[in-house]
Formats: sequence, C-alpha cells, structure tokens
Amino acid sequence: MQAALFRISWVFVAITLLAAGPVRGDGPEGLAALMHALQTHAHKLQLSVAARNRELAYFYVHELEETTVAIAIGIEEYDGYPVGALTREMLLPAVEALEASIKAGDWETSDARFAKLLKSCNACHLVAGHGFIRIAPAEGNPFAQDFSARD
Ligand code: HEC
Repeated sequence: MQAALFRISWVFVAITLLAAGPVRGDGPEGLAALMHALQTHAHKLQLSVAARNRELAYFYVHELEETTVAIAIGIEEYDGYPVGALTREMLLPAVEALEASIKAGDWETSDARFAKLLKSCNACHLVAGHGFIRIAPAEGNPFAQDFSARD
C-alpha cells in the first residue's frame, strides 16, 4: 500500500514536471534552487534523526525524495553533465535506503545511512564538476523549529 502510494506520488511529480515543460538548469526554479532545498531538508532530516523523531524524519526524507525525483526527471543535463541520470544512480538509492530504515525505526542504521547520503551528495558534486561544494554534517539547530519527538 505504502509502496503503491509512493509510485502514485512519483507519477504525480512526473506529470507536473511534464506539464510545466523542461526545467532549465539555471534560474529560480533551476538546479541551484533545488540543491538548496536538498541541503535544507537534509539538515532538518539530520536533526530529526538525531532526535529520534520518526514522524518528522519520515516527513523530511520524503521531501528529500520528491526533490531528488524532480531533479532526476526534470533536469537532463546541466553544464554538459547528465545530472538527471547521476541523481537517479547516485542519490536516489541512498534516499530510498534511508527512508526504509527510518520507516522501520532502525536508528543506528539510519545514522549510518544518513552519513552515506551526504557522501552521495559529495560524490556527485565531484563527478559533476563541482567538487568544491562539500556538504558536511550539520552542527546545531539554526531553525526556529523544535525537532524533538512528542512521545
Ligand atoms: C547530479 C549530481 C548531484 C547530486 C546527487 C547532488 N548535487 Fe548538489 N550540486 C550539483 C551541481 C551540478 C551543482 C551546481 C549547480 C549550479 O551550478 O547552479 C550543485 C550545487 C549544490 C549546492 C550549491 C547551491 C547552494 O544553495 O549553495 C548545494 C548546497 C548542494 N549542491 C547540495 C547538495 C546536497 C545536500 C546533495 C545531497 C542530498 C546534493 N547536492 C546532491 C550536483 C549534484
């Protein structure tokens, strides 16, 4: 059931993107803006996982997945690099693996998979000519938001 829902949301993302036409790599809706969303959601995801807040962590890993899919489907090429295919091959599996361990409430595995996720970000920056952008684990909570679990 859950898997079917995800498949439906993927189809929704794909249809929305197709309706909007090809996404350009630059501009406010472009790759840098999507990357910024990835970074913010990854940071919030880290804080939710650290707080062992399953509901919130699941929410942010899902946001991360949506942006990942939007890049994978919507941006074929950027600066001559096959950004869509790279995102599909390098990032999507890491996001999905983390989603599964969060869903299972397996926090130790989720910690390890989060670290792996950031490695995927940086590995792709390296092969896509942006190795100078190095994502590091976040320190502290700069957001006006409480990440602690309610129960
Ligand atoms: C396709 C491989 C690829 C993957 C996977 C990828 N990036 Fe990027 N990223 C890029 C490229 C290319 C740029 C440069 C975009 C530009 O020139 O506008 C970039 C730029 C960025 C920037 C600079 C924009 C800003 O707002 O400061 C950040 C931050 C960033 N990525 C974070 C991430 C994070 C976090 C992840 C993983 C969750 C990730 N990226 C995964 C290719 C990738």
